[in-house]
Amino acid sequence: MIKKGIILAGGTGSRMSPITKAVNKQLLPIYDKPLIYYPLSVLLLANIKDVLIIVNQGQLYQFKKILGDGSRFGIKISYAEQQKPSGLPDAFIIGEEFIGKENVALILGDNFFYGQNFTKSLRECTKLKNGAKVFLHLVSNPSAYGVAKVNNNNKIVKIVEKPKTKISNLAVTGLYFFDNSVVKLSKKLKPSDRNEIEIVDLLNIYKKKNKLKGEFLGRGGVWLDTGSIKDFYDTSAFVSTVENRQGLKIACLEEIAFKKKWINRKNIKEAIVFYGKCEYSNYLAKFISKSNFK
Ligand code: DAU
Repeated sequence: MIKKGIILAGGTGSRMSPITKAVNKQLLPIYDKPLIYYPLSVLLLANIKDVLIIVNQGQLYQFKKILGDGSRFGIKISYAEQQKPSGLPDAFIIGEEFIGKENVALILGDNFFYGQNFTKSLRECTKLKNGAKVFLHLVSNPSAYGVAKVNNNNKIVKIVEKPKTKISNLAVTGLYFFDNSVVKLSKKLKPSDRNEIEIVDLLNIYKKKNKLKGEFLGRGGVWLDTGSIKDFYDTSAFVSTVENRQGLKIACLEEIAFKKKWINRKNIKEAIVFYGKCEYSNYLAKFISKSNFK
């Protein structure tokens, strides 16, 4: 079982400047909570309780202020700084000590996932012993992402970063599961033309060894990324629509942890004090007062 997870939450956020000039993108709101809550909720749903959050230099304080050491959610959160955005596999180099001898999940801090069977798929992925697994999802604009081509048996036969000529509509999402050799392999990667080490190069090494598998989010699954301002507001609108329709929150970390029995009612009450008088606190208060809360 994969028990460790990394959230890569640095980056320049350049596509969202000037909003991101002074504030890390992952701390900006997606509707009613900071963006970082959503990828963190994915790790919680995957039963990953040991989390490393990688942020830009000088931003640790802000992340610690909102997420602390993770005890509010019954998990352990540690932090590391990235000197500069030198590529996604840098997460495994920075995280070498954190990863130790174990396998690891990586989620990008700006990715949003939602859907009926998503948790089930996540649990499958955490069973990974050897090789690598990536979540794939259909998109209409594949040239903006890493893209995979699969054969009739759903085996990944090709994987390219932001292809100029179309190879398929299957985007490689920012959620990855790797065996422990990822640390050693990441250290050997050479920077690309844009002077970054590339996740696609890492994935291609696994593919060549026949050790790369795709997990399909499926048509009913939702994957949104929050790279641009429009994506950001579209994701907010999606969360607002679903939450207000159902009266249930997406990525309420305390709710997830409570249902898993990682925290108790007393902890929820403490969280309410921490957040202060707000809609999020009202939601927490409401759900611990209702015994039949689903
Ligand atoms: O969102 C999925 C896509 O993410 C994948 O399909 C691509 O294969 C993958 O390369 C990546 O593409 P992006 O162009 O979206 O990557 P971006 O540089 O925007 O970084 C994604 C997140 O990771 C963002 O929150 C910033 C953070 N990041 C990125 C880099 C390169 C870091 O924290 N450090 C970094 O060095």
